[in-house]
Amino acid sequence: MNYRHAFHAGNFGDCVKHALFVWLIRALQRKPGGAFVLDTHAGAGRYDLAGSPATRTGEASAGIFRLLDEPPAPLADYVGLVRELGLYPGSPALARALLRPQDRLACCELHPEDFLALRRAFAGDRQVAVHRRDGREALGALLPPAERRGLLFVDPPYEAPDEFDKLVAGLRLGHSRFATGVFAAWYPIKHRAPVRAFHSAMRESGIRDIVAAELFLREPLDPARLNGCGLLVVNPPFRFAADVPPMLAALLERLGTREPGEGFSLERLADE
Ligand SMILES: C[S@@+](CC[C@H](N)C(=O)[O-])C[C@H]1O[C@@H](n2cnc3c(N)ncnc32)[C@H](O)[C@@H]1O
Repeated sequence: MNYRHAFHAGNFGDCVKHALFVWLIRALQRKPGGAFVLDTHAGAGRYDLAGSPATRTGEASAGIFRLLDEPPAPLADYVGLVRELGLYPGSPALARALLRPQDRLACCELHPEDFLALRRAFAGDRQVAVHRRDGREALGALLPPAERRGLLFVDPPYEAPDEFDKLVAGLRLGHSRFATGVFAAWYPIKHRAPVRAFHSAMRESGIRDIVAAELFLREPLDPARLNGCGLLVVNPPFRFAADVPPMLAALLERLGTREPGEGFSLERLADE
């Protein structure tokens, strides 16, 4: 396991995934009943963007640092949270900040140091469980939740060549245990072929009601670069199709570099 999110915290991929993640949690909380959030690949929880891993790559300069001042209205909720939380929040810190007393968060992380950081961050917190376990396996073991309402957030490092295959298997497993859950999986877009194969596999999975929101910084031609990213959502909550395109447009306005092929899309992969 070589991937450490500290080197990439605050990059444009983080901004896309976290803006939508915050929207999805808020959507889950439109009803008063308790909700369960599972973060299958949680990372360390918080990151020092002034510290050495982040400054060595400088990725936040092309990401969150471009959003902090006077954020556009569709991003105001997400950016407001980032500012409020101080030390740059990863997905577990964002989720924790949004939990109501009736909600629960479970985080899985396999890297020993990031797991310890996460466990320390949530020590004594009765609403948060931190597991050192495989995130995909957790999609079987921790579902369905007692609350019967939940967001299952899947954000693997894409280090291994079969990561998309594992993702499809994890989503199928999770969905077989909890068909009404909202599953959200982030993915990188380097070149088109692996993403096309992923979308096809999801279309053929038998799972209904799937959409994919994608943002491109440029034409996805160079497989060595992160040219864009996407979030695949199963059972998207009401108003997803109305609220997400303005968020993607606002992200692109701030983070885009005006290269050929930049843009965003919201595609329905499977009907309800
Ligand atoms: C992209 S990072 C997560 C970032 C985090 N979700 C956020 O938004 O702040 C992916 C994380 O998955 C962890 N990881 C890798 N393989 C895993 C596995 N099989 N199960 C759980 N975590 C894993 C890595 O150590 C890394 O911290």
